Amino acid sequence: MRRIAFLLIVVATVAVVIASTALTAGQADEQAAPAFLTQIPAGYRDWKLISMAHEEGNLHSLGAVLGNDVAIRAYREGTIPFPDGTIIVALHYRNVPSEENNKIFGRAQSFVPGAPTNIQFEVKDSTKYAATGGWGFGHFQNGKPADAAFMKPCFPCHAQEKAHDLVFTRYAP
Ligand code: HEC
Repeated sequence: MRRIAFLLIVVATVAVVIASTALTAGQADEQAAPAFLTQIPAGYRDWKLISMAHEEGNLHSLGAVLGNDVAIRAYREGTIPFPDGTIIVALHYRNVPSEENNKIFGRAQSFVPGAPTNIQFEVKDSTKYAATGGWGFGHFQNGKPADAAFMKPCFPCHAQEKAHDLVFTRYAP
């Protein structure tokens, strides 16, 4: 009887140790690899144009969407899902009237990019970002990454575009 009680205590202790180790490992993983980007991928400003987007509502934004070589090749060949290594960036600006251009045209018709607002990324790495459809999302304002709470809605909204591998933007020929 005593031996059984002793065994039970040993088993319970081992279980507690395993559980707490797993918990710590999980936390360490999260800290080591957040599910979103914290660094701006290098060279993005020299990438090729995929398309543009203008948002009204309360955004009044003008955006240029660029892709690295892997992204551009996938777009041109119609490869879905996008391969690992794909990076798509959206450069966002205020959409503002150009007084200078309007003067030349003789009427109010011209809009151009104003101050930059943010830069958003989608990086394909099906292992690292498995939990968010294989895409790592990134949002940077003045070069600084957004926090985890801000990044939460990116994946669920983009996940609605499953048929096009979570990417809304189509290639503008
Ligand atoms: C409410 C839905 C919604 C949310 C939330 C959202 N997006 Fe998007 N995103 C869109 C739509 C729609 C487009 C295409 C229109 C456009 O570019 O303005 C888009 C375009 C993009 C693009 C260009 C490539 C593409 O998929 O078309 C990037 C990069 C991007 N979003 C990143 C992000 C990031 C990072 C976040 C989180 C901070 C985010 N998005 C949150 C709907 C959303």
